[in-house]
Amino acid sequence: MRSVSLGNDGMRSSTLGFGCSAVMGRIGRRASLAALGAAFDAGITFYDTARSYGYGESEALLGEFIRPRRDSVIISTKFGIVPAPANPLKQFAKPIARTALKVFPALRRTLQGHVAAQFSANHFTVDAMRSSVETSLRNLQTGYIDLLFLHLPPVTVLHHDDLFSALEQLHIEGKVLRYGIAADPPIALAALAAAIPGLQTIEFPCNLFDLSLANHPALHNPNIVAIANHPFGGPQRVAESKTLIHRLAHDPTLPPSLHQKLHKVDDATLADLVLNLITVNTGIKVVVPSMLTLAHLQTNIAALQQSRFTPSELQWFRNKLNSGTAAS
Ligand SMILES: NC(=O)c1ccc[n+]([C@@H]2O[C@H](COP(=O)([O-])OP(=O)(O)OC[C@H]3O[C@@H](n4cnc5c(N)ncnc54)[C@H](OP(=O)(O)O)[C@@H]3O)[C@@H](O)[C@H]2O)c1
Repeated sequence: MRSVSLGNDGMRSSTLGFGCSAVMGRIGRRASLAALGAAFDAGITFYDTARSYGYGESEALLGEFIRPRRDSVIISTKFGIVPAPANPLKQFAKPIARTALKVFPALRRTLQGHVAAQFSANHFTVDAMRSSVETSLRNLQTGYIDLLFLHLPPVTVLHHDDLFSALEQLHIEGKVLRYGIAADPPIALAALAAAIPGLQTIEFPCNLFDLSLANHPALHNPNIVAIANHPFGGPQRVAESKTLIHRLAHDPTLPPSLHQKLHKVDDATLADLVLNLITVNTGIKVVVPSMLTLAHLQTNIAALQQSRFTPSELQWFRNKLNSGTAAS
């Protein structure tokens, strides 16, 4: 398993992280624990969660799982999006919704509206942050959070000096080792440009549809830990990612060395291209997919262990995708 240093204080992580947004959401307790166990046994030491994930239950299940392993893992969590209060009816509704989705995938859009109603966003006051951190520490059964992110803040929050002073205080107290912004690329970049004292990390989506931050000069700052999420564009865009690779395979400017390498666009090709585009020579330290099925976990680990693509081939893909000429 490739590993990486997350700063000069000895914090280290596997390059492949484990996204927990679907833990206790898309899958239930037993499958979630099995997926976490498989990831840990395979050497993954970075787990990304948030107060809102899994209808508010992802953090607590992760806490239960990592308790005996706390010293061996890095936990990243977020505040700012608050889950709806626990409702016993939810326990019955979730398995029904999962089954319904398997039988009628077209229901996803309808259910997404319902899922959005389960959260309330934009909680970035000092009090809300402190209370959220205390809840996260309780949920995660730990005395400290390795990486704490503002979860999708509007750009105006970057100027809330009192919020960042309060985060710095938690850092001094040892409750939060690093804090930063989890946001779409423009806001993540604005956060770096704002040079907020104490800000040490950013998390942002990075995938074939938006590679704008991969290899961005701002990410080569040694004081910033850059984390990429959503690498396959989410469950809905896995197929579209493969179609895009297929299209690239037939691009008239494709370097000859790549013809054979893109001969078959299966899960292994997808993982090899996407995960290495994101992590090889880009300044991005960790990439965090959801990979709840064992086959995806194993494919993703293999992709980062040995790539068929050279660094210059990967750069060709980044240039092509960033130029916008690959999408049509
Ligand atoms: N605002 C934020 O802070 C934010 C936003 C989005 C995401 N995130 C983080 O990023 C994580 C991942 O994002 P995501 O779940 O939205 O999207 P994602 O990782 O881009 O996509 C997940 C989908 O890809 C599938 N998959 C994984 N490996 C594969 C492979 N090798 N070949 C084919 N399919 C594969 C997964 O299947 P299975 O899971 O069924 O195996 C799942 O259906 C989240 O869990 C969360 O931690 C953070």
